[in-house]
Amino acid sequence: MSDPEETQLEARLAEQEAFEPPEEFVEQANVSDPSIYEEFEENWPECWEAAAELLDWESDYDEVLNDDDEPFYEWFTNGELNASANCLDRHLDDRGDETAIQWEGELGETREFTYAELHREVNEFAAALRDLGVEEDDVVTMYMPMIPELPIAMLACARIGAPHSVVFAGFSADALATRMNSAESEYLVTCDGYYRRGDALDHLSKANEGLGGVDHDTSTVVVDRLGDELEHELTDDQHDYDDLVTEHVGAEVEPVTRDAEDMLFLMYTSGTTGKPKGVKHTTAGYLSYAAWTSHAVLDVKPDDTYWCAADIGWITGHSYIVYGPLALGTTSVMYEGTPDYPDKDRLWDIVESYDVNQLYTAPTAIRAFMKWGSQYPEQHDLSSLRLLGTVGEPINPKAWKWYYKHIGNESCPIVDTWWQTETGGMMITTLPGIGTMKPGSAGPPLPGIDARVVDESGDEVAPGEAGYVTVNKPWPGMLRTLYKNDERFINEYWQEYSDPDADDWVYFPEDGAKIDDDGYITILGRVDDVINVSGHRLGTMEIESAVVGVEGVAEAAAVGGDHEMKGEAVYTYVILEDGYEEGEEMAQSIIEGVEEAIGPIARPEKVIFTPELPKTRSGKIMRRLLEDIANGEELGNTSTLRNPEVVEDIAKKVRGD
Ligand code: PRX
Repeated sequence: MSDPEETQLEARLAEQEAFEPPEEFVEQANVSDPSIYEEFEENWPECWEAAAELLDWESDYDEVLNDDDEPFYEWFTNGELNASANCLDRHLDDRGDETAIQWEGELGETREFTYAELHREVNEFAAALRDLGVEEDDVVTMYMPMIPELPIAMLACARIGAPHSVVFAGFSADALATRMNSAESEYLVTCDGYYRRGDALDHLSKANEGLGGVDHDTSTVVVDRLGDELEHELTDDQHDYDDLVTEHVGAEVEPVTRDAEDMLFLMYTSGTTGKPKGVKHTTAGYLSYAAWTSHAVLDVKPDDTYWCAADIGWITGHSYIVYGPLALGTTSVMYEGTPDYPDKDRLWDIVESYDVNQLYTAPTAIRAFMKWGSQYPEQHDLSSLRLLGTVGEPINPKAWKWYYKHIGNESCPIVDTWWQTETGGMMITTLPGIGTMKPGSAGPPLPGIDARVVDESGDEVAPGEAGYVTVNKPWPGMLRTLYKNDERFINEYWQEYSDPDADDWVYFPEDGAKIDDDGYITILGRVDDVINVSGHRLGTMEIESAVVGVEGVAEAAAVGGDHEMKGEAVYTYVILEDGYEEGEEMAQSIIEGVEEAIGPIARPEKVIFTPELPKTRSGKIMRRLLEDIANGEELGNTSTLRNPEVVEDIAKKVRGD
């Protein structure tokens, strides 16, 4: 029988719509004075000096914001600084012996880097990269899992002014090649392999296959993660990471002076078309914004042990495992593996072992923890936790409350942070020391952020009505352009709501949302052809071209269908060429084709064969209808279709009738 007190508590939690930040938290919060909202509004854009002040500058900026050439905004113009010096050198005097990175491998092995040790290895690797020929502004690609050499390589690049482009290790060889070609990147840092659920996985073969598709000469550095576990051979243009670092032992590399607007890194992300977008982030705007949001939203303090359980292969890891926390001189935890290996309490074991103070993760993980049950966190002492965060997809109130109760013990504020690869850092969330929390709603825009919910003509919608998110003023962490493609930058983000003639530029993130009376924003999800699978962003066009690339496929449509654990899952509707047979075998080769072209994260949940796709009279595939079919929803009016009769047949197949 369940404990009546417990049942009462559950009932209260289930009904409760709003939660106040715990007093104990507010007393120590980095930001706790609500006047910050007004102050930032009245003093915009100079308010952003607060972010710049978190950094050390080699020379001061002249102007906070330069908007002479909208929407190509510049922040902190003519300021000079180096990101690696800000994340390392300036902490050496006071915090040289404190831990910068606390790493745990999947097998349980640990590696710790103090700020002094991290500084040393970053210098040595920076010297090695230079010796290999890397010059300022050369793009260095990294294709690595969660091992310490990844942030080391990123900071080494930042030190010598070479932008990095990190490709998620779970992406395919093709995806690596596409990104290296697009960035004209001649250098790759990768590794031999890594562990997943205790098994050694070969990563280098995938990297080599990718290099085979690169259309120019390359040099590669290979980190030996697996030792004797996996034999690997290096070709003439490949170098062993340890050998390089040993050759440069004790080397010191003066951080290169970078202009505020110089590129710090590129990050490829999915959009509406099949071609990934190379999002460009700059040195001062990005770094100051990552540091400011880590300070204000994650409440990071130098003495904290802070853990963002994301992967550095995505923007969350860039901003909130590497740059934000290290700029603030804290201890950032990095975990290599999966949350359920060797058992489902792995994360809670890590929180307890290192006395983690903040945990930042994704709703998809929280849904999994919830399904596994509260007995796993209950085995551990989680009392070190002070703040919890989520990112990447909407969190439903039930999962929010579970997280609040079972992980936060009802004494940690939760920040539900909405942002994107393009925004560089968080945009919409409560401030944990100020804002009432409402489960399911991200909260108001951050101070200084002019985010709104508007209708199709750009007018703000009434409370409760659905609309689109727009950001009506620039912010320091914003992307500056898409790599070597200013035109696409304007078309993708500034077309819908801007009025260039009136010099009115509005950023459109392509998300739907609702707003409450009190200005709290609830994100409803993407309104473009992007699917959010377990918080990972995938383009439907990318998936469709992978499916069409499979022998025997004539035409395909990919959509997102609701999924209990993943948030959304990929549904593909496929028309075969004559002479090919529908069935398990064909479905399997389509699944494999997608895995090969993009990676296992894009694996279709369902492959539905159909003789036709529902199309409008002008020949456009009706994706919304296919989504409704995937979700088992009422199909509404299909009379505007050229071929309404196919709809019921497809729906039957999905239902399995
Ligand atoms: O749809 C929004 C969703 O993730 C998209 C951005 O994906 P990406 O660029 O990969 O960055 C993910 C990590 C910042 C957004 O357009 N999203 C992100 N955070 C939230 C969210 N949806 C709802 N609530 C959030 N907190």
